[in-house]
Amino acid sequence: MYLKNSWYCAGWAKDLADSPISLKVMDKPIVIYRGANGKPIAMDGICPHRFAPLVQGKVQGDDIMCPYHGLVYNKEGQCILNPHADGKIPPNAKVNSYSIVEKDGVLWLWMGDSPSDESLILDTAWLQDDAYAEVTGYLHVRANYQMVMDNLLDLTHAPYLHADTVGGDPELSIGAQLEFSFDVSEDGMIHSNYLVRGMKGPTPLFEPWWGKNPGDFRAEMRWKAASSLELDIRMSPLDAPKTEGIHSPSFHFLVPESETTTHYFYAQAEFSRRAFEDEDEPMIQACQENMTSIDLFANDPAILQSDVAGIQARRMLAKMIKAENQETL
Ligand code: FES
Ligand SMILES: [Fe+2]
Repeated sequence: MYLKNSWYCAGWAKDLADSPISLKVMDKPIVIYRGANGKPIAMDGICPHRFAPLVQGKVQGDDIMCPYHGLVYNKEGQCILNPHADGKIPPNAKVNSYSIVEKDGVLWLWMGDSPSDESLILDTAWLQDDAYAEVTGYLHVRANYQMVMDNLLDLTHAPYLHADTVGGDPELSIGAQLEFSFDVSEDGMIHSNYLVRGMKGPTPLFEPWWGKNPGDFRAEMRWKAASSLELDIRMSPLDAPKTEGIHSPSFHFLVPESETTTHYFYAQAEFSRRAFEDEDEPMIQACQENMTSIDLFANDPAILQSDVAGIQARRMLAKMIKAENQETL
C-alpha cells in the first residue's frame, strides 16, 4: 500500500529547531535533526543496540549520540563511536539514512532506495510569497491515507459536510447548480476541477472579501503521487478569466504513518481550519471504521461519477507501487 520512491512531507521546517524530532512513516520511526550546517538529516529512529529512540539522543555536529549507551551515528546512519570497552563497532550497528530536503519551509523526505530526484518535489513557491498569509497545521487522522485522498479529490461533499464553512448552502452551490461542471484530466498529476458558472453567492469562506455577490466559483485540485495535493479555490466576476477576482490556495500533504493512520500537513492561505479538523477528519475516520478492509474495492463501494478523480489517483498509485515492488524482487 506504500510507494517508497516518492517525496513525502516530513513536517514544517520551522518546527525543526535544535532538538531532533521523530515521525513514523510507513510504520518506521524516523528521526530528523539539523546537522552542523543547519541542513536536515533523516535516518531510522531506533538504535540497533537495545532499540532506544534516537529522537531522545544528543546531536553532535552532523552526528547523533544514542541516549541509552552512547553509541554515536554519523549522518549516513553508520555507528562511528562505541565509547565502551574495546570500542569495537559491530557490523550491524548502523541504521538506514534517507534523503531529506528543506524547501519553501517544507521538509521533504524520500523513503525509497533509488536515488532521490529533487526536481520531483511539488512547486510550493507561494508559501514564500508575502502576498499570502498562510497558516500551517497538522492533523493526525485515524484512516488510511488513500481515504483522505478520496476526500480531497471528490469535492462534491463540500456543500453537505461543510455547509457552514467552506461549502456553502447545497441549494446555492456545487451539486444544485445547473451550470456546475466537473472535469478530470491527467498530465502526470491528476486534476479535478469544478466550475460553477454564475454561482448566486460565494461560499462563507469568501464572503468577507466578496460580499453576497454572484460570480464564477472554481475549485481546482491537483494530486501528485504519492499523496501531495494542492487546491485552489477561486471566485471571479461572471464570465471573467479565472485569474480575475480572488483565490485561496492550499496544500494538503498526506503521509502514511501506518495502514490505518495518516499524517496530514496542511498549509492554507486565509482559510478555515475548521472545515478539515471538525468536518472532514471525523467523517473520514467514521468511514474507515465502517470498512471491513483497508482495500476500498474489497468493500464493494457504490461508485459515483464524482469519484472518477479519486479512483484515477488510486489506480495510478497502485500501478506505481506494483512497479516499485517488482523492481525490488
Ligand atoms: S540502545 Fe543505543 S547505545 Fe544502547
Ligand atoms: Fe472537505
